Amino acid sequence: MVTGEKISVRTPLIYSQPLSDIAGRDVYLKLENTQPSGSFKLRGLSHLCKEKYAEGCTKLIGSSGGNAGLALAYAANKLGVPCQIFVPTYVVPRMLKKIQAYGAEVTIGGIDWQEANDQAMAELKKDPNFAIIPPFDHPSIWEGNSTMISEIKEDLKGRRPGCVAVSVGGGGLLMGVLTGLEREGWKDVPVLALETVGAECFNLSVKANKLVEITLTSIAKTLGARSVTPQLLEKYKDFNVISEVLPDKDAVHGCVRFADDHQMLVEPSCGVTMAAVYSKLLPSVLNKYGYDSSSGPLVLVICGGSDISQDILQNFINTFGMPCNDVE
Ligand SMILES: Cc1ncc(COP(=O)(O)O)c(C=O)c1O
Repeated sequence: MVTGEKISVRTPLIYSQPLSDIAGRDVYLKLENTQPSGSFKLRGLSHLCKEKYAEGCTKLIGSSGGNAGLALAYAANKLGVPCQIFVPTYVVPRMLKKIQAYGAEVTIGGIDWQEANDQAMAELKKDPNFAIIPPFDHPSIWEGNSTMISEIKEDLKGRRPGCVAVSVGGGGLLMGVLTGLEREGWKDVPVLALETVGAECFNLSVKANKLVEITLTSIAKTLGARSVTPQLLEKYKDFNVISEVLPDKDAVHGCVRFADDHQMLVEPSCGVTMAAVYSKLLPSVLNKYGYDSSSGPLVLVICGGSDISQDILQNFINTFGMPCNDVE
């Protein structure tokens, strides 16, 4: 393919009546779950893959068995570049199958991500024309992710968001959103950064004003980076970022209610973003931090995620119950 061709797609920004009714103001959903690989990850990773392809890279290497691995496999397939992904032994077979379906070679080994990544780095050293594609920690990934904000600006046709809500894992999505807001002259738009309890490495780092490492205990596995990208801890201070943490239960209920309201399935790492509205954190948290809560629509980034199915969601419901049981 030609390097100028798009691999990630322009996603819809839709008005949500059910969420607007709950929030008492307009809520829009940026449907990154409709990217061909199932998550926003394709924006940033395909951007970096295309740069490496243009430099003459002969193999793309990764170490994620999750949505980043899937995005990398998809992008490499579209570019026609061989791709090898190293994943730890606990990788779930359903994700393995999805990654392999795009023609990527998957090498299973190592008890955790660190060990799998060590193998990826060893492979990288074998040839100067091989390139490593990290899951979130690279400026080109942030640049690629930032394009969603330009699309939101075009689609809102002159309206300025009252808040943009996103989930945070390693912080590649949030870095992209902040980069986009700055470029579009929306630097002062409040950003609600959401994590689940047991995956809150950003929240703890903000509170400690230094990088904090965590051990993941949340079910939102794809938010489970050990720590956020260090640049985020500097960058967020120049913006109006509010960091909040919600329990796994809210994230699961966000998925269930989103499926009921909009007939789409997403991972809890995305459900936590909708939970901000369903649990009534938004818009009230804006008041708490002194922002004008009557201004502009709320924009939720529906980051997506492919490690979800009816069965998996049912298992979560078995653990956490149905949301109707505890909605007032
Ligand atoms: C569906 C989904 N949402 C959110 C995130 C968090 O993204 P980031 O690590 O860029 O903060 C991930 C990360 O893998 C993800 O897969």
